[in-house]
Order: sequence, then C-alpha cells, then structure tokens
Amino acid sequence: MYGLVRVLVSRHIGFACHLAPQPILIRANATELRQVVMNLAINAAEAAGTAPVAITLQTSIRRVPRDGLGPGAPPLPRGVYAVLDVVHGGPGMPPESLERAFEPGCTTKGPGRGLGLPAVREIVRSHRGAVWVRSAPRFGTHVRVAIPLATTRARATARRAEPPGPPTRPGALLVVDDGAHLRSLVRRMLERLEFEALAAATGDEGVELVARAPERIAAVLLDVHLPDTSAWTVCQRLHTIQKPFRS
Ligand SMILES: Nc1ncnc2c1ncn2[C@@H]1O[C@H](COP(=O)(O)OP(=O)(O)OP(=O)(O)O)[C@@H](O)[C@H]1O
Ligand SMILES: [Mg+2]
Repeated sequence: MYGLVRVLVSRHIGFACHLAPQPILIRANATELRQVVMNLAINAAEAAGTAPVAITLQTSIRRVPRDGLGPGAPPLPRGVYAVLDVVHGGPGMPPESLERAFEPGCTTKGPGRGLGLPAVREIVRSHRGAVWVRSAPRFGTHVRVAIPLATTRARATARRAEPPGPPTRPGALLVVDDGAHLRSLVRRMLERLEFEALAAATGDEGVELVARAPERIAAVLLDVHLPDTSAWTVCQRLHTIQKPFRS
C-alpha cells in the first residue's frame, strides 16, 4: 500500500508510514480496508494542496477503556483495537465542515464529490469499529480509525476456513517500459498487490520473456513508445506466440 499512496501524494509533500512493530490481526475485508486507507490518504493530499506539509500514517494497537479513547472519540465497547491514524498539517477544517464531514455529498470540492468519508464510515462500522476526525483551521487534521482486534476464537475459525496453499492469481504480469523508474514502480505496485510481476526494458526483451514461458504470463502492460520497436509490432509478435492475448 505504501507504494500506491506514495504515487498519489505529490512529491513536495512529505509522507511517512509508521507501522506497529507487532503484527495486527483483524478480521476484515482487505479490499474495503484498502479503500479506507486510499480515501484518507487522498483527502490528506488534497487538503495539503501545495503547502509544504507532511502526511503521516501510523498503525498501533490500543486498549479502549470503559470511558472510551479520549476527548472527541465516539463511544466504543471496551476491548483491544487496531488503530490507524492519518495526521497532517495544512489548512484544516472549520467547525461547520467538521460537523458535517461524514454526510454524503458534503464537500468543498465540487459536484459529485463528498462520498469518501461516508464510505469510510460505512466500511469501518461494518467492521464494528469507529472513525472520527479532529481538525482545526491552520493546525491540520487527524483522522483516527479503530477496528477491534480478532479474538483468539475468531482467529482459530479463520485459520480453519483458510483454503489450503497460497491464494491463486491468474499468472504473472509483464511490464514493458523503457523508463527504468516507471518500470520498477509499476512492478513494485503489482507485487504489493500480490501479483507475480516481470519487467522488460524493450519490446524485444518483452517478447523474449513471453516466448520463453507463454503459459506463465497472464497480461502484458505495454508502453506505447518503445525505443526499439513499435508497440503495435510487439502486440502482433505476442499474438503469434500466444493467441488468447487480447490487445
Ligand atoms: N484530511 C482532511 N483535511 C481537511 N479537510 C478534509 C480532510 N478530509 C476531508 N476533508 C473535508 O471534508 C470534505 C468531505 O470529504 P470526503 O472525502 O467525504 O469527500 P471529498 O474528498 O470532498 O470527495 P470524494 O468523494 O472524492 O472523496 C472534503 O470536501 C473536505 O472539505
Ligand atoms: Mg475524499
């Protein structure tokens, strides 16, 4: 996820990710949780705008006592929670925006927006957790998400329900791009999404990789401007190696 968020946050904004040293186990829908992190990170990046601020993502484990997690926090049942904090400086939110931040359609960004925080709240609630925001003009914003840790019984049930062996992906994805930076970035992003990723710097190299093991490659991400040959020619050569490739 770090790579994905780093790509979204523009270069002049500092971005730090502090993960808890111990593994955090929750029963959760991974796609939905990714959506939570992405929505919060995008909001932070958009709020920062061109200001030279830093965004910090931090995970931790916290015990919620009977009286809750402190000022401003919604009531949560006692227990141990996985906590995600997204904190940044920048303009912050005036009280009237803060009050309505989770209402669908409440936005400062134009028509069709204002759906990110309501979606985050919906997802977090469906995981029996809570999300809340502290923000003040000029001081920046702190969004906190808390989701209960998996209990020992839930973990045992999840282990029993796990399918044997690693999750199956359709095959390797091949990135063909002469830009070294972009090539390695895309490759790392795919690997973070748990795909097997291969990379080639030229059309010839890409075709050779596919020719060596056509059944291994599920899809090719092809740069349109290649130094050695046209992308169209590469496509045609790939088709002659493996018919089901669709371009
Ligand atoms: N981190 C933040 N800092 C400052 N203001 C924020 C922050 N996050 C949200 N807001 C304010 O809350 C509003 C609602 O956020 P929300 O994510 O729901 O919608 P949006 O970002 O406007 O649009 P989208 O549907 O694309 O997410 C934003 O328009 C913005 O004014
Ligand atoms: Mg948003």
